[in-house]
Amino acid sequence: MIGEFLTAAYPWVKSLHVISVVAWMAGLFYLPRLFVYHVERSRQGGEIDQLFQTMEHRLLRVIMNPAMIATWIFGAMLAFTPGVVDWGAVWPWTKALGILGLTWFHHWLGRRRKEFLSGVPPYSGRQFRLMNEVPTLALVIIVVSVIARPF
Ligand code: HEM
Repeated sequence: MIGEFLTAAYPWVKSLHVISVVAWMAGLFYLPRLFVYHVERSRQGGEIDQLFQTMEHRLLRVIMNPAMIATWIFGAMLAFTPGVVDWGAVWPWTKALGILGLTWFHHWLGRRRKEFLSGVPPYSGRQFRLMNEVPTLALVIIVVSVIARPF
């Protein structure tokens, strides 16, 4: 019964999955860039500091958190659709590794935002630039796993 519903809904669920993935990725790339400029261009308690706090808060609350939850829900629906995932293959597991990396990074960014709130910039601009490579790496692993499926 549920299997039949998931099979019928498959193309729509996959579309919603990819849409939410794009929104989530946009935030995962943009928030660390905001942190770079926040560290390098603002003075604690100043007007620019306040502006960055608001932008970072809204980005996380309004876009990134809902997009991450939607990605997980639609992704799980796809994973439960009969015949979609061959659990004996390697690609679902490499993809899972990338997903865990992105989810960890999302929460890492959330913790850094709270540290900004307390007034102490947690990292330098250079360190945030470096961390910006995490979502890029995870994205490559995930897309190659799910589309090219070389393993
Ligand atoms: C959060 C947990 C996630 C789960 C449980 C999940 C699971 C799945 C499943 C089962 C499929 C269907 C594969 C098929 O139709 O053969 C799929 C498709 C897809 N996923 Fe995810 N996914 C998740 C997150 C992500 C993320 C973070 C990305 C990208 C960064 C992503 C990118 C894609 C793409 C591009 C497709 C379409 C592939 C195709 O054309 O068949 N997924 N996902």
